[in-house]
Amino acid sequence: MKLNWAERLVVNNPCRVMEQRFEIRWLRRTLPLPPESVVLEIGCGRGAGASLILKEFQPAALHAMDLDWKMIRLGKRFLSSREKQSIFMYVGDVLHLPYGDGSLDAVYDFGVLHHVPDWRSAVSEICRILKPGGTFYVEELYPTLYQNFITRHILLHPTEDRFGSRDFRAALAAAGLNMVDSLEVKGVGLLAVLVKEA
Ligand SMILES: C[S@@+](CC[C@H](N)C(=O)[O-])C[C@H]1O[C@@H](n2cnc3c(N)ncnc32)[C@H](O)[C@@H]1O
Repeated sequence: MKLNWAERLVVNNPCRVMEQRFEIRWLRRTLPLPPESVVLEIGCGRGAGASLILKEFQPAALHAMDLDWKMIRLGKRFLSSREKQSIFMYVGDVLHLPYGDGSLDAVYDFGVLHHVPDWRSAVSEICRILKPGGTFYVEELYPTLYQNFITRHILLHPTEDRFGSRDFRAALAAAGLNMVDSLEVKGVGLLAVLVKEA
């Protein structure tokens, strides 16, 4: 589901970049990428996260995709020419990723799955394209944050089958993604590193 005007303001601003910088450094400290990694960021928005991934993780190839072509268009303006040479951005849907089984070293998700009505299929699709031993770096939010009595009137999210900590962790484990480490803020969200079973 695409963002409404209010959430576009929330994600496309310098405070969000600062938050992502801290998160990405923690993710890298927890588990760096192997050399020559080919990686994907789903729901990349205007590309601020992709720029940080490039700087901190230094993958050999970085793909970044989003459902919303307007976000991809913003990215073409937000990223520097040097970054644009290293980041391949495209419009797509996390439910149908254009990669073969077991083809990527890592997938990054910054606040995307809670926008996807069928988030369980999205988890399976991410797991499908990861190599055995590949890494899923994830930041996700829970409904108590984005669907409380204030935010549900301002932000736009799917309303059925939402996940909190227990459901999300169970779905990741069922897909064969093993938790390496996580930081959880109760009722708010999760920052985690998971590895696909070899
Ligand atoms: C909350 S924003 C996060 C943007 C960026 N990752 C960040 O952290 O600033 C969620 C993004 O996911 C994208 N999105 C939603 N559903 C998607 C889907 N099915 N496939 C790919 N991207 C999707 C939205 O268009 C939006 O850009």
